Amino acid sequence: MGVHTADPLGRIVLITGASSGLGAAMALACARPGRLLHLGGRDAGRLSGVAAACRAKGAEVVERVLDVRDAAGMGAWIGGAGRLDLVIANAALGGGSDDGRPEPSAQVRTLFAVNLDGALNTALPALEAMLAQEKGADGVRGRIAVIASVAAFVPGPGAATYCAAKAALDRWTVATAHTAGNHGVVMTSVCPGYVRTPMTAGNRFPMPGLMDADRAAAIILEGVAKGRRRVAFPWWMAGLARIVGALPPRWSTALLAKPPGKAPMVE
Ligand SMILES: NC(=O)c1ccc[n+]([C@@H]2O[C@H](COP(=O)([O-])OP(=O)(O)OC[C@H]3O[C@@H](n4cnc5c(N)ncnc54)[C@H](OP(=O)(O)O)[C@@H]3O)[C@@H](O)[C@H]2O)c1
Repeated sequence: MGVHTADPLGRIVLITGASSGLGAAMALACARPGRLLHLGGRDAGRLSGVAAACRAKGAEVVERVLDVRDAAGMGAWIGGAGRLDLVIANAALGGGSDDGRPEPSAQVRTLFAVNLDGALNTALPALEAMLAQEKGADGVRGRIAVIASVAAFVPGPGAATYCAAKAALDRWTVATAHTAGNHGVVMTSVCPGYVRTPMTAGNRFPMPGLMDADRAAAIILEGVAKGRRRVAFPWWMAGLARIVGALPPRWSTALLAKPPGKAPMVE
């Protein structure tokens, strides 16, 4: 069919949250002649800056200013994009509680709406579209990467909703990867540790293993190209998080409550 290049990620890539941080870094890492990028974000100015940088690297770019909470809009965008070789559900908000109190109800609901429902508003229409599209030369109909976090593995009292939304995303993606894979769609849950982006810029606690967004983007895209069900890095932080997460709740939450929590969400 000529739709696939030798690049295992394929020719056509859609990324949400491409206007900033990790999403922008992944868009730039994917940008090359022959690639079509569909880039989503809310801030039109920053999104077009990233799009221009991707075009300068030879990619064709279609920008879309859209809130991932708009389920109908997301369905229309993704369902109407034509063939998609890779979709990355990346958009999310950071936010927690740094005053020792439970998060305000409005923040809990917004974080679940953006970080969980928003990711599903991306992954579900992508899965539906990919199941209906032809296989490429490599036998793959398409790939979906869902950006979770190592936060998925721990019940952090300072970021309760963020951890819970990421845990749900990771569990859903890893489990669905089995059935989707049987039908030619490769799914990957991505669980990064700390990455230097605007989301972490305001953190007032030590961030062990903090890495640049370019390096994180390269690790993610390599794992996605290899068809891994989960890409969790740095390996030692992911391992430690899983050990802490496996402890009895009183112990894990006591350990995790020590550093100040994430600053409250800024929408
Ligand atoms: N940074 C880390 O240490 C780290 C670690 C693990 C996982 N992650 C995950 O990595 C992903 C990218 O985060 P980041 O660090 O790059 O953060 P970031 O720089 O704050 O970027 C977040 C992106 O999500 C978009 N976004 C937020 N709310 C949205 C909404 N309602 N609709 C559409 N787009 C929305 C933002 O768009 P606008 O800016 O245009 O509003 C922005 O492009 C997230 O899923 C995050 O949870 C980050």
